[in-house]
Amino acid sequence: MTSRYRVEYALKTHRRDQFIEWIKGLLAVPFVLYSQPTGIFEANGFNVTQMSEEAHRRYAEIMRDIEVMIDDNINHQSDAIRVPSKLKLLVPTIGTFFTRLPLEAAFKFQDRKRYISSRRFVSPSFNDVRLILNTAQLMAVTTHGTLQLATFDGDVTLYDDGESLEPNSPVIPRMIDLMRKNVKIGIVTAAGYTTADRYYARLHGLLDMIATTTALTPQQRQNIVIMGGEANYLFEFNPTSPHLLSSVPRERWLTAEMNTWSEAGIEALLDVAEAALRDCIKSLNLPATLMRKDRAVGIIPIDPNLRIPRESLEETVLVVQKTLELSVGGRDFDNKVVPFCAFNGGRDVFVDIGDKSWGVSVCQKWFGGGGGSSNGNNIGQDNNICSIKPEQTLHVGDQFLSAGSNDFKARSVSTTAWIASPAETVELLDELAGFMGKKLS
Ligand code: IMP
Ligand code: MG
Repeated sequence: MTSRYRVEYALKTHRRDQFIEWIKGLLAVPFVLYSQPTGIFEANGFNVTQMSEEAHRRYAEIMRDIEVMIDDNINHQSDAIRVPSKLKLLVPTIGTFFTRLPLEAAFKFQDRKRYISSRRFVSPSFNDVRLILNTAQLMAVTTHGTLQLATFDGDVTLYDDGESLEPNSPVIPRMIDLMRKNVKIGIVTAAGYTTADRYYARLHGLLDMIATTTALTPQQRQNIVIMGGEANYLFEFNPTSPHLLSSVPRERWLTAEMNTWSEAGIEALLDVAEAALRDCIKSLNLPATLMRKDRAVGIIPIDPNLRIPRESLEETVLVVQKTLELSVGGRDFDNKVVPFCAFNGGRDVFVDIGDKSWGVSVCQKWFGGGGGSSNGNNIGQDNNICSIKPEQTLHVGDQFLSAGSNDFKARSVSTTAWIASPAETVELLDELAGFMGKKLS
């Protein structure tokens, strides 16, 4: 029984996105029924256009049906209806939708780019569905609403894993364009550094461009913050500081809830995590060393050229996560476990205090009226401050599996887009600019 549970867990829960898999399954049916793989050797009388039009029509109908199911689920999300929606019954792990998703239109948009309906051997894939969902989300936050805040993960989203945002990165002009359109930007990264120079080293291409470009007014240059260590270090843009960033003291941005995380609770949680990580290094014989910081603890390879096997990284995350959930150490003033995020960074494993849901919500409050050098308010002490709403916020990241991924946590406070590389982020931002332009015209 136990091992069966473990196998199921390994196969399904943390390695798959159940909503995407479910949509893939629905699209597989018309693919099987209407694609014509034999057409390649039956040249006579076979009409490729007809086949792809029929597949397109069927796929679009399915996407429209799912769209309607999501609308129904959104109605059920309101407190008034306590019974689960049909979608919730079919996909139990489904989360909260902050906007409706125009899936039929998004499918048609992606089909024009990716020729999904013209394929005869390869059925609609995980990536096809992921990109359709991203497009639908972009359409929703632009044409149906007004995007006010875009938050970005760092590694794999803005630059390759472990690299930096260099001046020639194509993502930079697109981010500047958003700031010029008065969309606020938060870089919400797990990379946790206490000083501005370290963030400047990772983000210098963007920061230098913000400082020198004539496209932005002085006020628009303040449309960016860096939230580091998931939700632990906040920096604002400062043109006169040597690294173009100023650290914002915690008392100016910690929310009332974050203020309940006691220093003793944080230390105790990191102690438990450290012990669990040390156990994993030993039991899995990992070529790794421990790194303890003031708000995080992790393991990194002994030698940067060494790679810890993916399975070992995943095992470590799951062991540490379970150990922390069950531990009696690491409690806050209300005796709740201090929020934490254990994740597989691709080459390393880290446990951070807080997670990106807190990081993104601080950005929402900061730009919603609670912070910014212009008004100097204190987020934690003012219960009446406005906050940018989840449906006006888009978080872009690469880690959206339910366990061992850090961007996943942002889903509870904002809409999200799931990208797989910095090149995809560039494409996504071009799509976004296109939809924003359409709305203006
Ligand atoms: P992200 O993709 O921008 O969220 O960055 C994740 C990566 O940042 C991790 O995989 C680590 O390599 C690196 N990192 C550096 N310092 C920290 C830390 O304090 N906590 C978590 N990750 C860190
Ligand atoms: Mg990342």
